[in-house]
Amino acid sequence: MAHKRKKLTVIGAGFVGSTAAHWAAQKELGDVVLLDINEGAAKGKALDLYESSPIEQFDSRVTGTSDYKDIADSDIVIVTAGIPRKPGMSRDDLLTTNAKIVKDCCEGIKKYAPNSILIIVSNPLDAMAYVAKQVTGFPRERVIGMAGVLDGARFRSFVAEACQVSVKDVQGFTLGGHGDTMVPMPRHCSVGGIPLLEILPQDKVDAIVQRTVNGGAEIVGLLKTGSAYYAPSASAVQMAESILKDQQRILPCAVELSGEFGMKGLFMGVLTKLGGRGVEQVMELKLNEVERAGLEKSATAVRELVEALNKLSY
Ligand code: LAC
Repeated sequence: MAHKRKKLTVIGAGFVGSTAAHWAAQKELGDVVLLDINEGAAKGKALDLYESSPIEQFDSRVTGTSDYKDIADSDIVIVTAGIPRKPGMSRDDLLTTNAKIVKDCCEGIKKYAPNSILIIVSNPLDAMAYVAKQVTGFPRERVIGMAGVLDGARFRSFVAEACQVSVKDVQGFTLGGHGDTMVPMPRHCSVGGIPLLEILPQDKVDAIVQRTVNGGAEIVGLLKTGSAYYAPSASAVQMAESILKDQQRILPCAVELSGEFGMKGLFMGVLTKLGGRGVEQVMELKLNEVERAGLEKSATAVRELVEALNKLSY
């Protein structure tokens, strides 16, 4: 019998993947398949999560597998597979290892879930989204990188803390690549509708911007053995929810640009509208000189990474 619920696959049963499965199941986004080359980890975590459902009262079937056949008919596939960074490493240091891993995953996806919408989480994010697009050949609407939601959430959480207000009242986002050149947008941040720059002095805003850019490294420095996973997985699941429920939410995501912001053929974090077809629209906005220069610098960094990637045989 064909399944009637939505189906969401998470590839990689590490911290990010298993936590993504947790959020998705608890939100009843659909049935969840957790896939990992380590079959025991995938099956064990999935079964454990499923056994929590009578307590937490969610109707999501959660199953684990190492067999790509089981991802057939997935509406969404979240790709988290890859190694995380250790203290002192940049996301870019993961390029060679993770390109090969993401390529293998995407070959399985292309074969068994050719109509799915991909949310790429593996790092270095912008380059891994590029790999996913190359390997699957999916249209750009269906290959979406998770970064801006995470970076924006870090930014918003620091703003809420500094202003001593509810996180619910803070709007804000970041643009650009998911790396040291990301571009937080304080001019577009608001607190209860009031522009942030009217509420906090410039030096405080600058410190928040800097902390946001270093947000991933801050967590790596504390954990020492891996990188962040609660906020990254929540971010991917928020994107999945907007797609599965056709919410048309405006979320910053990495998308292959086709002329927006004067850029073409590279993945960059931009504001997008996410709905049932994946990326329904890239939302352009006017940038001032500093923001434009920041975005150009970030584009150069992403281009260099993709060039380095194309020199590798992965
Ligand atoms: C971070 C990693 C997941 O930003 O890229 O925490």
